Amino acid sequence: MSEPVLIHFAKHGAPANGVLIVLTDDTLGFGKATQAALRPATAAIARAMEADRFKGKLGGAVDVLAPEKLQVSRVIVLGVGKAEGLTDADWMRLGGIAAGRLPAGTRAATLVVDLPGRKLPAGAAAEIALGMRLRAYTFDRYKTRRKEGEIEPAALAVTLLVAQEDPARAAWVAREAVADGVILARNLVNEPCNVLDPEEFARRAEDLRTLGVEVEVLGDAELASLGMRALLGVGQGSIKESRVVIMRWNGASPTEQPVAFIGKGVTFDTGGISIKPAAGMEDMKGDMGGAACVTGLMHTLAARKARVNAIGVIGCVENMPDGAAQRPGDIVTSLSGQTIEIINTDAEGRLVLADVLWYTKERFKPRFMIDLATLTGAILVALGTEHAGLFSNDDKLAGELAEAGAATGEKVWRMPLGPEYDKLIDSRFADMKNTGGRHGGSITAAQFLQRFVDKTPWAHLDVAGTAMASPSSDINKSWGAGWGVRLLDRLVAEHYEG
Ligand code: BES
Ligand code: MN
Ligand code: ZN
Repeated sequence: MSEPVLIHFAKHGAPANGVLIVLTDDTLGFGKATQAALRPATAAIARAMEADRFKGKLGGAVDVLAPEKLQVSRVIVLGVGKAEGLTDADWMRLGGIAAGRLPAGTRAATLVVDLPGRKLPAGAAAEIALGMRLRAYTFDRYKTRRKEGEIEPAALAVTLLVAQEDPARAAWVAREAVADGVILARNLVNEPCNVLDPEEFARRAEDLRTLGVEVEVLGDAELASLGMRALLGVGQGSIKESRVVIMRWNGASPTEQPVAFIGKGVTFDTGGISIKPAAGMEDMKGDMGGAACVTGLMHTLAARKARVNAIGVIGCVENMPDGAAQRPGDIVTSLSGQTIEIINTDAEGRLVLADVLWYTKERFKPRFMIDLATLTGAILVALGTEHAGLFSNDDKLAGELAEAGAATGEKVWRMPLGPEYDKLIDSRFADMKNTGGRHGGSITAAQFLQRFVDKTPWAHLDVAGTAMASPSSDINKSWGAGWGVRLLDRLVAEHYEG
């Protein structure tokens, strides 16, 4: 896996080593701690900024190599733009940009968390560290050789120089939990499906026990005796068994109703008998991005000891076309008792979620259920890769998600639901069919899910455009984005912790 980034905090004035990163705003001034760190090269650095016509814009930077009389190998001056009103997401992004400017193989860096004439929030350093961790992540587990002249990757030790160490360290405890959760989700998404089959996914979820998460794993036999025929129908064409994993983090009083997160974990989606075209099919190893997010989120909540009772339930199956596979025209009875006519075996995610949503609702009576699923190609047509599709039966929950999306940059866009769409999935032979025709494909998929949530406040996030193969950003260069962990951690922290 990628080389570790080790985060340390020290007080302003501590010696810098390796690469020195300093901040400035659009006034191009330096704070006192920065001036001290740059002395006696301050004037030379200012000249370099001028020579580069550097304006201090957010994300802009100037590199000065081996500055005379300083012990460091280079100085990077990083602009923050307007210092007024920098958000957590801005600080995180700045951390990502800083990490991105470090030359390959850098072993040590020191970043002075300081701006001219203002006291920075205690969380700023932790957000920067989060951004650095996320940016430095690469998935290179299966690379056995390097290209000619390629630099050996190395562990990177980052020291953040802050005005006060204790509050910065305290903020980092929670943000480090987020970094680890996002990275876990990315690893799961990036892993190939010959390695990460349903059984292996369940094993990785079981690792959360070390954090105090209770983990239960249900296999084919248990799922059959429970009656999860919709989910099992998807997996029946694969030689791999299916798994439903239930993760429980009990961070609040046992009398407090839990919140629940549900994930689509199709470890590979060939489409089944309604098989997909060959081009790009390899991307369907990421069809478990929803389940990866739920697992990463449970990691985060437990690691930061969130004061909430949270349930994560993931449905892990492989959708394959063999002689035992489900056929178009088959009718299955879901756990809810409702029957489903299979029109297209490639509309499999909703079949998995139907049983997992019903199970979660019945067993845990949660305050809300939020499911995440790489559910439809149509959501990519509608929203591209910038927003996940949000569908909800609850305006309050939808509003909270939109707000958390804006704050974290993991943005969601609300889509409609309604009886006119719902009737498109009525079936001639069964209670419903699993596709609703060519138009409004993401909406009819959501309507299908809604038939399995009853009155429980519920939101569905269609993450087909955001969980994988999304464009690289300042905090992510990897194929698997780990999308949603930061969004949902924020939602919980803002609204559901005691
Ligand atoms: N996993 C796919 C959706 C998907 C497409 C995810 C592209 C990520 C990128 C899902 O199971 C699927 O195949 N959906 C079908 C539904 C259709 C058959 C009604 C689709 O979107 O074409
Ligand atoms: Mn499919
Ligand atoms: Zn799928």
